[in-house]
Amino acid sequence: MLLTDRLKACCDMAGRCETVTDIGCDHGYLPIWLIDQGSCKRAYACDINEGPLSKARENAARILEDPGPISFIRSDGLKDVPQVTGRDNVLVISGMGGPLIQKILDDDMDKAWGYDRFVFSPQSMIPDFRRFLTNRGFCIRDEVYVTDAGKLYVIMGCCRGENKDISEIFFRFGPCIKRELLKNGIRTAFMKRRDELASLLSSRDLPEDRRMDLTYELRLYDEVLKS
Ligand SMILES: C[S@@+](CC[C@H](N)C(=O)[O-])C[C@H]1O[C@@H](n2cnc3c(N)ncnc32)[C@H](O)[C@@H]1O
Repeated sequence: MLLTDRLKACCDMAGRCETVTDIGCDHGYLPIWLIDQGSCKRAYACDINEGPLSKARENAARILEDPGPISFIRSDGLKDVPQVTGRDNVLVISGMGGPLIQKILDDDMDKAWGYDRFVFSPQSMIPDFRRFLTNRGFCIRDEVYVTDAGKLYVIMGCCRGENKDISEIFFRFGPCIKRELLKNGIRTAFMKRRDELASLLSSRDLPEDRRMDLTYELRLYDEVLKS
């Protein structure tokens, strides 16, 4: 079974566990892959829509010899997902905008805290999402960047705890940016973004507040790319 680089990075971040819960599972490839690899014993594949869930059921039946360890649950966020018990359970929420992931967590924080580890891959408002995690008591203990079909994605591995670093660089780029920039593809993607910012800044009819925001962002990119 082949996964995209982004989904493979989410699976790697989830690692070995007892139960994985995938909120917004869509095609179901993440829980299917983890069960297929023997990385986890059981999985909850959850989605708010019936269409993706039936696709996930079909994929599991086609790919796995025994799809029994996967329960398919129609649920808005964590609402109808059973409370997990015991140790080493992982909650994955990936491929949604940062504000939607925040809402899903805030709506059922007690249930979310039943998990030991968390994998989040927000696709928008990423600095705000890191601020949210910090304010709610999630520690971002690892992060990887991947490029997939020309787009840059971030995958966060979290647990309960405190983020000691609360610098602007941390919120903008995450705790592992120095290591991640050693990967050629990632450095190139960041340099491309830096050049886009510089080119936006050079346009003439820019409102002053936008110019100030872009100048600040460009300074952060310059700082992180120098390191
Ligand atoms: C773009 S797909 C991401 C699929 C997969 N997680 C990934 O990373 O490739 C987003 C999925 O989230 C589901 N979704 C959106 N809002 C949701 C919610 N509140 N609760 C559960 N699933 C939701 C959608 O139906 C869709 O299948």
